[in-house]
Amino acid sequence: MLKEINYYETTVKERSHFIDWERVHMVSCATIGYHLAVQRGVDPILAAAACTCHDYGRIITGKQTNHAYNGYQPVQSFLRKTKLFNEEQIELIATAVKNHSKKEEVGSPLEEVVKDADVLDFYQYGYKFATEAQKKRVESLLGHPVDVEIVESSRLPK
Ligand SMILES: [Fe+2]
Repeated sequence: MLKEINYYETTVKERSHFIDWERVHMVSCATIGYHLAVQRGVDPILAAAACTCHDYGRIITGKQTNHAYNGYQPVQSFLRKTKLFNEEQIELIATAVKNHSKKEEVGSPLEEVVKDADVLDFYQYGYKFATEAQKKRVESLLGHPVDVEIVESSRLPK
């Protein structure tokens, strides 16, 4: 994935999020996701992989808008190229990628790990949330209210 980011860094210059954020977020989400998965009885390798890839749509387009859906097909091609996963696993990971922005909904256990890792990672770096649903997730995971502002996504890391 780091090689993919390096490639798209040179080919897609205009980006809604700064490229080093993609690198940092990818790694720390994978770590958080791995641990959440172990705790919840979800396959931690699949969870770490899904967390690693969850923003692939934004990495390849540079755009936040619809990035979850935009990653669905392309991430399948990427995962096939790695030869690390079978077709069933690729579909599970790609579906988690596609649905990870639906923070107000409860999806499959794998999808929930990705969504939770995503919001926790944002929170741990001190970024503001883009939606109330993101904030509620973090509060429910931490078990206490958090004093974080909700701002429009255009103010998220560039
Ligand atoms: Fe993310």
